[in-house]
Amino acid sequence: MNIGIIGCGNISPTYFNSYKLYNNFKVIACADIKEDVAKKSASEFNVTFQTIDDLLTNTDIDIVLNLTIPSAHKEIILKTLESGKHSFSEKPLAMNFEEGKKIYQLAKEKNLYVGCAPDTFLGAAGQKAREIIDSQKIGNIVLGTFNLMSHGMEHWHPNPDFFFKSGAGPIFDVGVYYITQLVNLLGSVESIISVSGTASEERIITSEPRKGEKIIVETPTTLLGVLNFVNKTKVQLFASWDVWKHQHTAIELYGLDGSMVIPDPNYFGGKLKISAKDSDWELIDINNMALGVPNKEDGDGLVANYRGIGLADMVNSIKERKKARCSIDLALHVLEIMEGILISSEKSSIYKMTTSCEKPEYLSEEEVKNLRTN
Ligand SMILES: NC(=O)c1ccc[n+]([C@@H]2O[C@H](COP(=O)([O-])OP(=O)(O)OC[C@H]3O[C@@H](n4cnc5c(N)ncnc54)[C@H](O)[C@@H]3O)[C@@H](O)[C@H]2O)c1
Repeated sequence: MNIGIIGCGNISPTYFNSYKLYNNFKVIACADIKEDVAKKSASEFNVTFQTIDDLLTNTDIDIVLNLTIPSAHKEIILKTLESGKHSFSEKPLAMNFEEGKKIYQLAKEKNLYVGCAPDTFLGAAGQKAREIIDSQKIGNIVLGTFNLMSHGMEHWHPNPDFFFKSGAGPIFDVGVYYITQLVNLLGSVESIISVSGTASEERIITSEPRKGEKIIVETPTTLLGVLNFVNKTKVQLFASWDVWKHQHTAIELYGLDGSMVIPDPNYFGGKLKISAKDSDWELIDINNMALGVPNKEDGDGLVANYRGIGLADMVNSIKERKKARCSIDLALHVLEIMEGILISSEKSSIYKMTTSCEKPEYLSEEEVKNLRTN
């Protein structure tokens, strides 16, 4: 299928280059609100430059890949659906649950697919963890934790304002990976309780080219809470951009017969460990799985980065008229969880979820291999 990209910023090269990983889609055009930015990408990646309106009416394009900033997601996804095309969007689906519901409604009305990142849960770590849980190797999962802590994004991103505005913050921007992974492993969330805080009302950009500029923080930079899953698992969360250093692991799940450590869900691979009851940790080898082989340099070394698998799976699902794994149901449920964490902290009360979704279908190695280029 042919893809048109709208939004040619920081993350876009990963997607322009994803044809090197997957065999069923091809980026043919790109657009951006800043036309000079889109022209530069078009020439660098050898695709056609178009204005946003021209791209949306280009009959050669089947799916519009939305890589704009979160505040533009709703507008671009709705326009894509109105123009009769399927949409795949970077996360989060929208700025809030209300916007997400509008997208959901239009997608159903138009009978079009809306897929949404993150797709990292389809990686080696997420799928192997899923296999272990589904096979009851550590028994029913009853408890867990997830921890994402750092000192924010103003140190590396060239344009970091949006991270500190409504629709971003540690939960919407990074927590989305953890929550999506947990829904993949445990199913839907039933209720949420949380508290929030903001350690600094202002942030100073230390990355180029805007070094020294000030950002006014408009969304909480710390959220602590508990997710209560429909299957009764309770997961404690700690999401913060107010922490310089820590020693927590990313995700841990505790079953009746053992425990599991799941690596950073921002990546596709990493160190997955299990223990049978109180025996020693066993490192599960996922480095040879199709979406686990470390392939990208990331500061400290090679990591597995196979972004685009969600889009490749959606292309396949459209052809076979089946549910995509990065489905709108999953994205909307995750969006409601994220908003629920904020609402619970604002109202000092338990947030009761109104949506639910099935666990996305397990992705086998064979299916991945069929989608990969050789
Ligand atoms: N940067 C990353 O490492 C990263 C990783 C994963 C996901 N994401 C997600 O990808 C998305 C984009 O992030 P980014 O870091 O590339 O941001 P960015 O600011 O670098 O790029 C966004 C681009 O979208 C364009 N844009 C903004 N509003 C637009 C509109 N209304 N119409 C058309 N174009 C518009 C901007 O001009 C810009 O070129 C976000 O949703 C983010 O959460 C980013």
